[in-house]
Amino acid sequence: MQKGKSAGKGDCAEREKYAGKGDCAEREKSAGRTMQNRRDMKGMSEVLRRAREYEAEAGRRVPEETRPSFHVTPTVGWMNDPNGFSLYQGEYHLFYQYYPYDVQRGPMHWGHCKTKDFVCWERLPCAIAPDTAFDGGGCFSGSAVEADGKHLLMYTSVMEDRLPDGSMRLIQNQSIAEGDGINYEKLPENPVITWEMLPEGCSWKDFRDPKIWKEQGQFYAVMGNRKLDGGNEGLLFLFSSEDAKNWKLEKLLDRGGGEWGGMWECPDFFALEKAQVLVVSPQFMKEKELEFREGSNSVYFVGFYDREKLEFARDKAYPLDYGMDFYAPQTMEAEDGRRILIGWMQNYENNLLPEGMLWTGMMTIPRELSLVGKRLRQLPVRELENYRRNKTDYTEICVSDVDGRISLDGIKGRSLDLNVEIQGGEYEEFTVWLACGEGCETALIYRKKEGIFTLDRSKSGMKNDQEPCRSMSVSEGAEVIDKLNMRILMDKVSLEVFVNDGMRVMSSLLYTPLAADKISFSARGRAVFSVEKYDL
Ligand code: FRU
Repeated sequence: MQKGKSAGKGDCAEREKYAGKGDCAEREKSAGRTMQNRRDMKGMSEVLRRAREYEAEAGRRVPEETRPSFHVTPTVGWMNDPNGFSLYQGEYHLFYQYYPYDVQRGPMHWGHCKTKDFVCWERLPCAIAPDTAFDGGGCFSGSAVEADGKHLLMYTSVMEDRLPDGSMRLIQNQSIAEGDGINYEKLPENPVITWEMLPEGCSWKDFRDPKIWKEQGQFYAVMGNRKLDGGNEGLLFLFSSEDAKNWKLEKLLDRGGGEWGGMWECPDFFALEKAQVLVVSPQFMKEKELEFREGSNSVYFVGFYDREKLEFARDKAYPLDYGMDFYAPQTMEAEDGRRILIGWMQNYENNLLPEGMLWTGMMTIPRELSLVGKRLRQLPVRELENYRRNKTDYTEICVSDVDGRISLDGIKGRSLDLNVEIQGGEYEEFTVWLACGEGCETALIYRKKEGIFTLDRSKSGMKNDQEPCRSMSVSEGAEVIDKLNMRILMDKVSLEVFVNDGMRVMSSLLYTPLAADKISFSARGRAVFSVEKYDL
């Protein structure tokens, strides 16, 4: 559910009017050099003012029906990682990596929205733009915290740096902007953490994505890094500060040891119940059975954090999500103590977009986290239940080989909250067919004996899809799960499946025409199941 301004078309000339002439690289330069230091009477830079004007106008022209109804999307243009997910003065703020002028990545800004209930979001003007000498190369990912009534944003400032031989390089440091929930000012002390503060041999070009928090009167922040020689290992550094301006390197808090990718992007580090959780999004991972895919993954480790010694002992790694579209999640603590996670529901490796779309990138539904042993349970925020309409339910429905696919009156749609529970029966395989229409369908298939659950979107309107299918194991060991339950959220172009009460999640996009809204069920053998559906 989106409130406030929405969106529209930006043709090339128009984009240039707002963004500056030329291609991306050139715009990057002009943002960095010419416009960055010009400010109006209120101190707002020309780069930010233009972005705000552009999104207000172009955003209005995005047809509302192309947007999901209860997920965050950019006002217009490109969106990636969630940033600055935080509570500020009683409201939840969410920022995002944003390039308003195109549906491709460009010099990064921070888009902005807020909510009271994680479901109904209000759009706010672009918060920060690459408009200073220290961040002209982009305002990359970061986080936020409330401090003394101010909203502090901590982000990676990408800076153009000239070497003595005249050549240029882009270095990554960390900077702070503080504001009132709408307007933000970058501190004169920026950048507050520089790559020079890292030990010898650490990379100046991969040092990013600070996650800031406050604990016992101190600020802490973790951020990702790697060795300058590439060394296939993610590094995680911990910094501390009394005032968020003067920072001290505490230590190398964790490292991937060659096993978990080559660079740890978007780290998050938080207490959950009696444990501590580290979330990282490693690049360049090797495929590992059904658990991890080749390339970028989002991984969590549950462990123990010794707050005196600042030491973290971690357990096994698990993926946060087994779907095709999930990356760079971030968490925050809600007012009532719940730990809420939100992720970018898209990916770099297989980034598909139907022609003519004026926005790209959406967030997952915010998820409540809890622990079951060393694994996370993730469930959609409970507030979503307030938006359910038109309940239709069935119990003890039988389906077997001879029935083919069966459909049930009232069970269809593309914007819904659907609970399916296999109640029992002698079945080998049970399938839920979603988004079915002419020539298209998306399948969720459970093979009981193997304990394997598969999402198949090979007929889901994704041309040149490199990853049409993904499977996951749903049991912990050899146990056979007979009574599998799945909660399925669809929001026009997205599908999120929470299996086994949220013990496994799969998130994916599907660009099937919205008229393809039929749902049916089939089995090999004979299965008995129940269904409960709400429109959203
Ligand atoms: C992850 C990421 C971050 C970086 C941002 C730039 O998706 O690569 O590491 O800060 O995107 O947009």
